[in-house]
Amino acid sequence: MSAAGSISSVSPGWSLDSWRGFPIRQVPSYPDQAALEAVEGRLHRYPPLVFAGEVRRLRSHLAQAATGEAFVLQGGACAESFGEFTADVVRDTFRVLLQMAVVLSYGAKVPVVKIGRMAGQYAKPRSSDTETVGDVTLPSYRGDIINGPEFTPQARIPDPVRMETGYFQSAGVQNLLRAFAGGGYANLHQVHRWNLGFVERSPLADRYRALASRIDETLAFMSACGMTEKTTPQINETEFYTSHEALLLPYEQALTRIDSTSGEWYDCSAHFLWIGDRTRQPDGAHVEFLRGVRNPIGIKVGPTTQVADLERLLEILNPSDEAGRITLISRMGSEKIRDALPPLLRAVRGTGRTVTWLTDPMHGNTVSTSSKIKTRSFDAIMDEVRGFFDVFAAEGLTPGGVHIEMTGQDVTECIGGARKLTEHDLGDRYETFCDPRLNAEQSLELAFLLSEELTGRPPAGRSVS
Ligand code: PEP
Ligand code: CO
Repeated sequence: MSAAGSISSVSPGWSLDSWRGFPIRQVPSYPDQAALEAVEGRLHRYPPLVFAGEVRRLRSHLAQAATGEAFVLQGGACAESFGEFTADVVRDTFRVLLQMAVVLSYGAKVPVVKIGRMAGQYAKPRSSDTETVGDVTLPSYRGDIINGPEFTPQARIPDPVRMETGYFQSAGVQNLLRAFAGGGYANLHQVHRWNLGFVERSPLADRYRALASRIDETLAFMSACGMTEKTTPQINETEFYTSHEALLLPYEQALTRIDSTSGEWYDCSAHFLWIGDRTRQPDGAHVEFLRGVRNPIGIKVGPTTQVADLERLLEILNPSDEAGRITLISRMGSEKIRDALPPLLRAVRGTGRTVTWLTDPMHGNTVSTSSKIKTRSFDAIMDEVRGFFDVFAAEGLTPGGVHIEMTGQDVTECIGGARKLTEHDLGDRYETFCDPRLNAEQSLELAFLLSEELTGRPPAGRSVS
């Protein structure tokens, strides 16, 4: 592994728009090229949404997660929606992520790196280019930054002005997240108050309250020892990072800037960007674009990922093997993970490269109900998480974290969990614009189970061999 900064500031053969010469998947075809170029030009002049120094800091935290010195909690909506651009939606998701982080860090005694699928998660890859309802077929909805979810021909036309709306909404969400993270909302003295109203009467809430009381006691003890908010700012604030799938490359290109301190390129639309399961071709445009920016990069790794492709991706995206640069996000499905992950894990280890591994227990476990509603079962999600921990333990390696689709809202989109939601309940509050998300209570339950997994494993399973 080489030290940070040893990569030359521009990757060989790369330029801001070199991706345009590569085969590309999942792109919208904008009918009005002039309108597209006008928006790209404006975005290119707008201020960055995140800063290179923050991105470097996240990279160093991810490097710690690669060796088990930290645990990554990445979560948020499958697709953020322009219509849900409210302080409450942002606050509630942030609050549940804080609760989960407290459960994990207190229970498993490990620092938690918090990353939201927030402030820019607007573009969606689709399995099919079209959607049919009755005898009408229209282009698929591709996320609010591309077209509209309404099932009308007009809404489904890709509109470049949506990119500008996406930028401004990302700025608004990012601003609120910064205020929440640094302005006292995340103060550890507030852990009791983070409990959301609708979770309050569940057994999980009791468990959370008991943990919050123990944290209060710890803080009182620390204060008696002279460690207060004044001496220890970590009590009063937290670090919170943003991420999204780098799918809509014209947008990503327009937000990419040279950092004046290092001379390196950073995609300033978010701290962390990932490549989806459908766009991770080593010779494709998405890989080409991300090769040249210095943000930490995630790669979704699915049951169809070939060992040779994964090895090539690591070589292309991280030629100097910098720790924290690559996060592999396994999304196998609960029935496949125990067979599909070990060969990939061993192959990566065989390359001698440093990567951070997360489990995404959501995307391999999507099923359709008899009435054609997309859902995921909490049991399958937990089974995949356990499978992930089992595979890592068997290899003597450390899991780096978890990547989930969740919301702070009281939705009914995934079945199971403490409240035992059934197929029948899905109709109550099924609000997602894309994939089904864990609600606040299911998210908290997952955090407790994760904390048990982290603490219950023998120490040998928690350090890199
Ligand atoms: C997602 O994270 O919403 C997604 C589409 O995942 P994947 O690329 O793994 O299918
Ligand atoms: Co999704």
